[in-house]
Amino acid sequence: MERLARLCGLWALLLCAGGAAPTETQPPVTNLSVSVENLCTVIWTWSPPERASPNCSLRYFSHFGDKQDKQIAPETHREMEVALNEKICLQVGSQCSANESEKPSILVEKCILPPEGDPDSAVTDLQCIWYNLSYMMCSWLPGRNTSPDTNYTLYYWHSSLGKILQCENIYREGQHIGCSFNLTKGKDSSFEQHSVQIMVKDDAGKIRPSFNIVSLTSHVKPGPPHIKNLFFKNGALYVQWENPKKFNSRCLSYEVEVNNSQAESHGNFYVEDDKCQNSEFKRNTEGTTCFIVPGVLPDTYYTVRIRVKTNKFCYDDDILWSNWSQAMSIGKEPNSTFYITMLLIIPVIVAGAVIVLLLYLKRLKIIIFPPIPDPGKIFKEMFGDQNDDTLHWKKYDIYEKQSKEETDAVVLIENLKKASP
Ligand SMILES: *[C@@H]1O[C@H](CO)[C@@H](O)[C@H](O)[C@H]1NC(C)=O
Ligand SMILES: *[C@@H]1O[C@H](CO)[C@@H](O)[C@H](O)[C@H]1NC(C)=O
Ligand SMILES: *[C@@H]1O[C@H](CO)[C@@H](O)[C@H](O)[C@H]1NC(C)=O
Ligand SMILES: *[C@@H]1O[C@H](CO)[C@@H](O)[C@H](O)[C@H]1NC(C)=O
Ligand SMILES: *[C@@H]1O[C@H](CO)[C@@H](O)[C@H](O)[C@H]1NC(C)=O
Ligand SMILES: *[C@@H]1O[C@H](CO)[C@@H](O)[C@H](O)[C@H]1NC(C)=O
Ligand SMILES: *[C@@H]1O[C@H](CO)[C@@H](O)[C@H](O)[C@H]1NC(C)=O
Ligand SMILES: *[C@@H]1O[C@H](CO)[C@@H](O)[C@H](O)[C@H]1NC(C)=O
Repeated sequence: MERLARLCGLWALLLCAGGAAPTETQPPVTNLSVSVENLCTVIWTWSPPERASPNCSLRYFSHFGDKQDKQIAPETHREMEVALNEKICLQVGSQCSANESEKPSILVEKCILPPEGDPDSAVTDLQCIWYNLSYMMCSWLPGRNTSPDTNYTLYYWHSSLGKILQCENIYREGQHIGCSFNLTKGKDSSFEQHSVQIMVKDDAGKIRPSFNIVSLTSHVKPGPPHIKNLFFKNGALYVQWENPKKFNSRCLSYEVEVNNSQAESHGNFYVEDDKCQNSEFKRNTEGTTCFIVPGVLPDTYYTVRIRVKTNKFCYDDDILWSNWSQAMSIGKEPNSTFYITMLLIIPVIVAGAVIVLLLYLKRLKIIIFPPIPDPGKIFKEMFGDQNDDTLHWKKYDIYEKQSKEETDAVVLIENLKKASP
């Protein structure tokens, strides 16, 4: 009687208080047990209650420790993927109908405990990102109570793999330790319905294992898109790009960056809907997305690049942008290197011109003012002084004259330069 009152108090307070006729409660379920499959698929099973009333269509009421995920179902088992980092308990009772307001039997509870070990030795910040629907990268930080030479191992499981696999490509990046493994989206549309189960422990068994359950409908970082087509038409800039493979274009959001290096202006456009229906994009538009940038100046130099991220139509989050696509440019290139080369080439040309001019002037001077014959010398030659010296003298004379002319020309050029700014 006392027990009945307590039951009333617990489970049917409202009914009892409301004065409803006390209904017969079912006997409790028997043989409740729990086991773990894969890395963290936890399965509870139980048997029907003994001596159930004959007209009863048995249903089982169950919920997790803190009254989460209440369920009334005919099956005698319940499973859940649980990151086994904390204790988790299931409570089960039987009842005679699927009616939610029916009072179930006494609830029986069975818990599963986290793995043994010092909680402070477990790794922290265990996170994974699925890149490009083709490989997953997980990273973590060492626990507080661990030696720095701990050798970590990551195990992963997904229903498509059929078994637990060990990740081979462990890497370190500063404080973080990580590992990446292949996980390619299957053709089966249910592929993403199943999560990936992750466990990180150490080879020596000194740290407490850590678990994570990675949903494939979040934390997806797409590969970069690829610009296929870029052209001016009717005062607008038409952009067409190829989406990363295996993504449905409906499931992606886009950002188009348009830089005008001459005006040093840039615009970022968030693409809402695909413009590939536009007749200007007459080429193959399958698997591509199109955008029309309004108000551009034709014949101006533009650089365009695009990035994508998953959106909430198909995914649970929309935070991870892809890398930018390769930039593509269009329009007349202002080409700063052209100006730089011009700046370098002009002085060279000027210098060359000066040299040519000098040489030319020198020759011109020789033509215009031929060396004046020295009558004295001629006389000397005529009157017998057949010394070889005279020839030397003559040569020297001409040489001296020429160098004098050259300095004159340089002075002239320098004066010219000063005159022109
Ligand atoms: C509970 O398990 C025991 C032994 O495993 C078995 O003998 C018994 O029949 C089970 N009870 C029910 C109701 O199935
Ligand atoms: C069981 O249900 C049938 C039909 O619903 C009814 O005729 C019968 O009296 C019930 N028996 C008991 C013991 O409640
Ligand atoms: C569930 O039970 C309550 C009271 O016991 C009753 O009022 C209600 O009609 C039932 N609902 C269904 C769907 O049978
Ligand atoms: C980790 O592995 C290295 C090389 O295999 C070994 O020298 C070291 O002792 C290991 N560390 C621990 C904590 O076992
Ligand atoms: C992962 O996939 C890439 C290319 O698809 C392949 O080259 C590599 O061998 C794969 N790695 C493993 C561990 O299977
Ligand atoms: C993304 O995955 C596709 C195939 O699934 C592959 O062809 C492509 O090279 C990948 N891109 C990057 C950036 O990894
Ligand atoms: C476009 O301009 C922005 C802002 O100045 C700059 O951050 C970005 O790197 C530029 N893009 C390219 C492709 O140079
Ligand atoms: C994104 O860019 C970074 C830096 O350029 C590069 O290391 C990384 O591999 C790229 N990721 C993808 C998915 O292409």
